[in-house]
Amino acid sequence: MRRLLPAPETPASPTGPDVDLDAAYAYPTEVVDAGRAWVRANMVASLDGAAQAGDGLSAGLSSPGDKRIFGVLRALADVVLVGASTVRNEGYRPPRPNPAYAPAREAAGRPPVPVIAIVSRSLELDFSAPLFTEAVVPTVVLTGPDADPDRLARARKVADVVVAGEPGTQGADPGAALDALAARGWTRILTEGGPYLLGQLVAEGRLDELCLTIGPLLLGGAATRITNGGAPEVPQSMNLHTLLEEDGFLFARYVRSLAGPAAG
Ligand SMILES: NC(=O)c1ccc[n+]([C@@H]2O[C@H](COP(=O)([O-])OP(=O)(O)OC[C@H]3O[C@@H](n4cnc5c(N)ncnc54)[C@H](OP(=O)(O)O)[C@@H]3O)[C@@H](O)[C@H]2O)c1
Repeated sequence: MRRLLPAPETPASPTGPDVDLDAAYAYPTEVVDAGRAWVRANMVASLDGAAQAGDGLSAGLSSPGDKRIFGVLRALADVVLVGASTVRNEGYRPPRPNPAYAPAREAAGRPPVPVIAIVSRSLELDFSAPLFTEAVVPTVVLTGPDADPDRLARARKVADVVVAGEPGTQGADPGAALDALAARGWTRILTEGGPYLLGQLVAEGRLDELCLTIGPLLLGGAATRITNGGAPEVPQSMNLHTLLEEDGFLFARYVRSLAGPAAG
């Protein structure tokens, strides 16, 4: 993998050290250490903007480099926020401690793995699955005040359940859900989508950063984009912080408000 932006001082050598992904994707410490949430999304899209390959899943858009970054972003995060459809479709499993990161996390008083936090209104989740029964840190379920009481009781037996939103809210209030995570000290928030959930975070102006892999594929068709749903009142502009490349795949890190080195 090579860094395109910020432009390296010396050209990358084929035998030289790889890009320092921990440094490239470090959370802004001035935000997260002050107890404020930083919401980062990690998504992959084809060259023509599809967020799903022909089988409806995202794996067909990925690459080895994308998977390495996926692992690093998880290892740096306190919590992985994900929509229930992605959990169901992609068969989410509980994260396992990564030996390259778990000791440092624990030395810093953090759990060895990030918490998985699932947003679901229906609570139609398989509560007997390893994601709930074998999680190193109990999986969180974020739902709304209109959740079915029987399913809510079932969820509470195996998960850390948060009801986010005032009575009358349909499903979870996305902003209240993020605030509930930050209130637990989980300020490094990574969302892995899907597009419906990410669309709400964008519409509410709560997305601070987008890590976007662009794969060199033209899929055509009518697949959804990486956001699918509402829109913010004013389009949100982002600054390009870092751009990496491997095998024709581009790995862009866009942030808002922090002027990234690439944005100059
Ligand atoms: N390209 C990528 O990077 C990428 C990333 C992730 C996923 N994907 C793909 O996208 C597909 C799924 O995406 P999607 O957009 O259909 O779904 P999604 O955002 O993963 O999940 C939607 C579901 O999340 C729950 N949800 C979302 N917002 C909620 C709220 N405010 N309150 C309560 N529940 C809420 C609901 O679950 P209930 O139905 O349980 O109520 C809703 O049906 C997957 O097949 C996956 O392959 C692609």
